Amino acid sequence: MTKKKLIAGNWKMNGNLAANDALVRALVAGMKDAACTVAVCVPAPYLAQVQALRAGSALELGAQDVSPHEQGAYTGEVSAAMLKEFGVRYAIVGHSERRQYHGENDALVADKAKVALAAGITPIVCVGETLAEREAGKTEEVVKRQMAAVIHTNGHCISEIVVAYEPVWAIGTGRTATPEQAQQVHALLRAQLKAATEHVDRIHILYGGSMNAGNAASLLAQPDIDGGLIGGASLKAPDFLQIIGAAR
Ligand code: 13P
Repeated sequence: MTKKKLIAGNWKMNGNLAANDALVRALVAGMKDAACTVAVCVPAPYLAQVQALRAGSALELGAQDVSPHEQGAYTGEVSAAMLKEFGVRYAIVGHSERRQYHGENDALVADKAKVALAAGITPIVCVGETLAEREAGKTEEVVKRQMAAVIHTNGHCISEIVVAYEPVWAIGTGRTATPEQAQQVHALLRAQLKAATEHVDRIHILYGGSMNAGNAASLLAQPDIDGGLIGGASLKAPDFLQIIGAAR
């Protein structure tokens, strides 16, 4: 089964009202013939702005995190229900920057995926090894452990998630995994998911980590790479549009 690829931008903590306006207008104008699904995952304060700018277009809206709690005394948190009110379709969970700087563990990431799904939001679950883990030959062990927690907590709903393989050593470094390195990990994640659901074909497995206009086509040509999660290059409309054009 071939499914449309998914190209998602992760703006991280970047943007301002004026820059967002120019970027989203350029994307909406430039992606009219896109063969893939396109999303931008924006900082929470800009959800309303981007929701208005994308109105009537095929551009999908995403968030970068979600609280594992439904509501209540959780200062600083944003709930899945709040995201849903702004038309959010995707929420990144377990990005390595949150695992690294905010102490998020596998169980918390799995819970976040669960609350997103319960609210009708597709979690983009990030997994990936550090450089030290790769050099120690632990890539497979690490990504399988991260994935197993999400499978365990989400049961048969697992076919509704998106997975992003993001090797930590490739994020923001300009050092991309080779298409073969990425394909190898994507294939083992696919096999792991296949053992958990008969609907594995529905699941997009994205690659993330220094994907850019120059290397996107060769990564996206791999059989188990169903799209990309793009950081830096998603902030520049021409670059992001080129990646979108490479996803067919
Ligand atoms: P870069 O594309 O900037 O390497 O970031 C990748 C990433 O972390 C996307 O979530």
